[in-house]
Amino acid sequence: MTSISLPAFCLVALIGASGSGKTTFAHAHFRPGEVLSSDAFRLMVSGDENDQDATHDAFEALYFVARQRLKRGLLTVIDATNVQADARRRIVTLAKEFDVLPVALVLDLPEGVLTERHRARSDRTFGPHVIPQQVMQLRRSLGKLQAEGFRQVTVLHTPEEVETATFTRTR
Ligand code: CTP
Repeated sequence: MTSISLPAFCLVALIGASGSGKTTFAHAHFRPGEVLSSDAFRLMVSGDENDQDATHDAFEALYFVARQRLKRGLLTVIDATNVQADARRRIVTLAKEFDVLPVALVLDLPEGVLTERHRARSDRTFGPHVIPQQVMQLRRSLGKLQAEGFRQVTVLHTPEEVETATFTRTR
């Protein structure tokens, strides 16, 4: 069982391919207001959580809210795939701006699990080829997260590890 200790005030980046369970995990362990989900912001700005054309505007809105929270000293979770270095750089830069610890929580599940879940979903409009691309991007990223500036990195590798992970918050 993985026990994850988080400072009471930190900026958490969930990192994982589509279907790795980021949103499910976030809702299990964080309070609703703490989790800023790119899908939720896509839905808010465009009416469609799958509308990739709305991605830029959705992230503008997400980052606006993240800043409002960090300004108030509130723990914030960015629920997006974050498999690309550019996306993570933005998070680390934001953490530096508010002098808050950037934390990486990685859901690195087997590709077979992800493609199986993707097949079973009706809420995703993109094709299954996206999953292996994201898995490759994630695997290439794994060894670089500390160097990118994440001060705490936890990698969960199986659905069981994700299911049984526990959190404590320190002062
Ligand atoms: N799922 C599952 N078992 C889990 C976690 C998730 O079967 N332990 C399923 C969910 O029911 C959902 C799909 O996997 O249909 C994706 O879960 P989600 O938490 O939304 O994963 P994300 O990583 O957030 O996916 P996305 O990036 O596409 O939003």
